[in-house]
Amino acid sequence: MSTPVIQTICCIGAGYVGGPTMAVIADHCPGVQVTVVDLNQARIEAWNDPDLSKLPVYEPGLDAVVGRCRGRNLHFTTAVDAAIAAADMVFLSVNTPTKTRGIGAGEASDLRWIEASARQVAALAQGHTIVVEKSTLPVRTAEVIKTILGAAEGETPTGPKTFSVLSNPEFLAEGTAIGDLENPDRVLIGGEDPAAIEALASLYSQWVVPEKILRTNLWSSELSKLTANAFLAQRISSINSIAALCEATEANVAEVARAIGADSRIGTKFLKAGPGFGGSCFQKDILNLVYLCRHYGLEEVAAYWQGVVSLNAWQSHRISALVVRQLFGTVTGKRIAVLGFAFKADTNDTRESPTITICADLLEEGAQLAIYDPKVSAEQIAADLGQPAVVTMDSGEGQWQVASNPLAAATGADAVVVLTEWAEFGQLDWRALAAVMRQPAWLFDARTVCDAAAARAAGLKVWRVGEG
Ligand code: NAD
Ligand code: UDX
Repeated sequence: MSTPVIQTICCIGAGYVGGPTMAVIADHCPGVQVTVVDLNQARIEAWNDPDLSKLPVYEPGLDAVVGRCRGRNLHFTTAVDAAIAAADMVFLSVNTPTKTRGIGAGEASDLRWIEASARQVAALAQGHTIVVEKSTLPVRTAEVIKTILGAAEGETPTGPKTFSVLSNPEFLAEGTAIGDLENPDRVLIGGEDPAAIEALASLYSQWVVPEKILRTNLWSSELSKLTANAFLAQRISSINSIAALCEATEANVAEVARAIGADSRIGTKFLKAGPGFGGSCFQKDILNLVYLCRHYGLEEVAAYWQGVVSLNAWQSHRISALVVRQLFGTVTGKRIAVLGFAFKADTNDTRESPTITICADLLEEGAQLAIYDPKVSAEQIAADLGQPAVVTMDSGEGQWQVASNPLAAATGADAVVVLTEWAEFGQLDWRALAAVMRQPAWLFDARTVCDAAAARAAGLKVWRVGEG
């Protein structure tokens, strides 16, 4: 069979992956019409906002790519059915969060959105359609998708309807998504139909060198994505475990990371100690791996990976407990400035941010939190903390409000707790901050991003993660 030429793409899911990924494909494949669809009308309206600073996903460089392609060969719409019907290739880029109820609750991925979109494709596609799993999925999900699509195959009034299913997991990281998509370490395509594989590879080969386009079977592709995230997260839990030991022994985790990272077998990346990993992927994907291992009777393997998640939660709680301990064992009624709410710098995403856990702990202890983040909205913080902001924090315990800048957050505070590594936190004027804080005052830097010497010179007591 000859390689089908892809002229129209539909991507179901206009989220953190669907939006940026399709924008970059459209940018490099001007001959292909790319339509990104979503049920969420507000999200689609934001993707279509003439003001590119209002795109629903904050990602450096994304506005320029969308600005170049939108209206030319990149479209955002809620007209899901028409976009599927017109597509030669459909990407499934919907959310796959951890199940919250029923069998596998707390571990397994919730596949309801994948199944719903596969059913929509089955019903509406015309002719031959290549269906690409872009979402991160449990190994063997393609089997389910193939079964749903297979039931719809056959003769139709407009001709035969057929499908090929591919797995093409996405490895972008938020905050660097455009660079990761422009210059990926690899593109992974898993499948059984060589013509479909080559059709997808021919799109990527518009800008990715052939050596980086890896072809595997479906199941290896699905499992590689979970494994990549598990290995990355494992490194963070490993270095965070050593950070705690450094604090107990007067070693310095940055120095240890530099020393071990110089070993080319270990490498330098992903060795930064912090408040614990966040983001929508790591925890979800490891829990999914744990669930799969249990399903296949591999209890020891499940326990091994579960340890990575447990250590991560411990690290976040360890930091909130440490703040309470240093503030004389109580934070009740005390104002604490929290700098950074996003799960990492250069994104507005707060999903599974360790800041949520740490703030929840401090609120439970009765603290009054003044929270500043340059990109996260007050509505998002309220949703994450499960309680609304207060207008004034003069009375009461366990309250929070948004601060418009770090100085406002620190005013009257006993401590500044830095939880996201925004570059601006490296430039803070500690003399000015110390002057408005209640003494004795602390800087707790869980990201080692601040100028500790300047903070100490300004009279603050300083704790930095992983420094003994
Ligand atoms: P997201 O929640 O930001 O976006 C998913 C979108 O899909 C939502 O806007 C939702 O409304 C839409 N949707 C769900 N069902 C739909 C349907 N039937 N029809 C139309 N739209 C529908 O999620 P995301 O962060 O983009 O992640 C998507 C997938 O990619 C997940 O499987 C995730 O694990 C994976 N992934 C995410 C990242 C990341 O950095 N966020 C990186 C790699 C892989
Ligand atoms: C991750 C994977 O990197 C990406 O390949 C996959 O496609 C999606 O999941 P993302 O979650 O967007 O990407 O960001 P990442 O840079 O991996 O950071 C995840 C978390 O780990 C963040 O909270 C970050 O602050 C933390 N982290 C990362 C550390 O604490 N230390 C490090 O050295 C690296």
